[in-house]
Amino acid sequence: LPLPRRLQAPSNLLHMFFRPEQFIARHAAAAPIHQVHMPGSSPWFTADPDIIDDVLVGRSKLFIKDRITRDLALVTGNGLLVSDGEFWRRQRRLAQPAFHRERIAGYADVMVEHAERLASTWREGQVLDIHAAMMRLTLDIVAATLFSSGVDRAIADTIGSSLDVIMARFSDPTYAFFPWLAGLPLPKNRRFAEARARIDGAIRGIIAARRASGRDEGDLLSMLLRARDDEGGQMSDEQLRDEAFILFVAGHETTALALSWTWMLLSQNPAAWDRLRAELDRVLGDRPPTLADVPALRYTDWIVHESMRLYPPAWSVGREALEDLELGGVPVPRGAQIWMFQWAAHRDPRHFPRPEAFEPERWDGDLARRIPRFAYFPFGGGPRLCIGNNFASLELVLVLATLARRWRPIVRPADRPRPQFSITLRPAGGMRATLLRR
Ligand code: HEM
Repeated sequence: LPLPRRLQAPSNLLHMFFRPEQFIARHAAAAPIHQVHMPGSSPWFTADPDIIDDVLVGRSKLFIKDRITRDLALVTGNGLLVSDGEFWRRQRRLAQPAFHRERIAGYADVMVEHAERLASTWREGQVLDIHAAMMRLTLDIVAATLFSSGVDRAIADTIGSSLDVIMARFSDPTYAFFPWLAGLPLPKNRRFAEARARIDGAIRGIIAARRASGRDEGDLLSMLLRARDDEGGQMSDEQLRDEAFILFVAGHETTALALSWTWMLLSQNPAAWDRLRAELDRVLGDRPPTLADVPALRYTDWIVHESMRLYPPAWSVGREALEDLELGGVPVPRGAQIWMFQWAAHRDPRHFPRPEAFEPERWDGDLARRIPRFAYFPFGGGPRLCIGNNFASLELVLVLATLARRWRPIVRPADRPRPQFSITLRPAGGMRATLLRR
C-alpha cells in the first residue's frame, strides 16, 4: 500500500505475519533489491541470483552473518553456523574433513538401518504426526553418525526434547520485539534455562566419555577431537561443545523438514508417487537400498530437489554489510541487513516454468547447469555453503527410498499444514498423516 513512511513499518509487519508467502513474493518481485521498513530493523530484500552470488561468493568477505543469525549464538554457543571471521575459518577447516564424501558414504548403512527400524514400528491405518516422526528419525541418525557409541537413546531423547524447548523460545516472536522479557523470572524462561543446562550436560558428558576412552570410533566426534590446525592447535572442550550443539541443531530439523514436505507433496501428486514406486520396484525389488543404489535412484533424487525447491527448509539466509557498497547498482549502507530468499528465487518463472507445480521431471537433463547458480540454493553457497549438504542429500534419498518402499504416508487435503516462516520452514501445528502399507 502507498502508505506514509511512518505507517509502512507496522503495516509491513502485519503483512509479513499474516501473509508471509505473499509478502515475500511481492517484495522480491518489486525490485532486484530494495529496503523494506519493519519495526526495529529495515532489512534489504533480494531474490536476484546475481546479487545473491555477489553477496555469498563474489564479495563474501565484505559480509558477516545478519543480526538474527548472530543472536542465535546466544542460544547455541559460537558454532560454525553462527561464527564469523578468522574464528569461523579455523573451525570450518578443522571440521571439513569429517564431511568429505568418502566419510559420508560410510554413514549410508546407519541411515537405512534407522529408517528400517522406524518402518517396522508403523501399523496399517495408523494416524501420526509424520513431521514429529521425521524429527525423531533424523535426530537418531545425526546422533548415531556424528557421535556413534557416545549417544544412547536416553541421551538422544534428552537432546531432542531440550532442543525443542530451545528452538521454540528462539522462534517466539514476542522475544524478538520485547527482548527484555528474557530477563524476567517467567516459567518459559525457566524451562529454557533448564533445557540449555540439560543439553549442555548431555553434550559435555559425550565429549568427556570419549576423551576418557581415547578410542577412535571413526565418527565425526573422533575426527573433531583429532583435528589440528596449521599450528598444531586443537579445539577446546568449549568449542567442541558449541560445534556439537550446532550440528544437532542444523543437522536434524532441516532434513526432517525436507522429508515432511516431501510426504505432503507426494500425497498431493499421485502420479509422482506412482513413478517413485516404479523406480523403487525396479531398482530395489524387495530389499532396502544401499549406497550402491543411489546413482540409480534418479527420480527419487529429483523428488528431493523439487520438494526443496517448493519448500526450502532454509527459506532465507541473511548477511550484514561491513561497509558501504553497491549491490545490483543500488547503494547499500554499512550495517545493512540483507535477506536473500530461497522461497522467492525458487519460484521465479524465468527459471522454473509453472513455478507452483510439483514436477520432479523438470530436474531431468541439464536444468541445474542452465539456471544461474543462485536460482536454486537450498544449501546456501560460497564459503558458507552448508557443510552437511552431501550428508543431507544422501540421507534424504536413502530415507525416502527406505520408507516409501514399505509405506505410503497420506496427508489429506484437510490436514495440509500451512508453512510457518520460523527460522526454518515448519509445518504449522505439525503434519497429520495416515499410513498405508504398500
Ligand atoms: C549451513 C541448509 C542439513 C550443518 C547451512 C546453510 C544452509 C543450510 C542454507 C547456509 C546458511 C548461511 O549461509 O547463512 C541446510 C538444509 C539441510 C541442511 C536445507 C537439509 C535438507 C545439514 C546437515 C548438517 C548441517 C545434515 C550437519 C550434519 C550445517 C552447518 C552449517 C550449515 C554446520 C554452517 C556452515 C558454515 O557456515 O561453515 N545449511 N542444511 N546442515 N549447515 Fe546445513
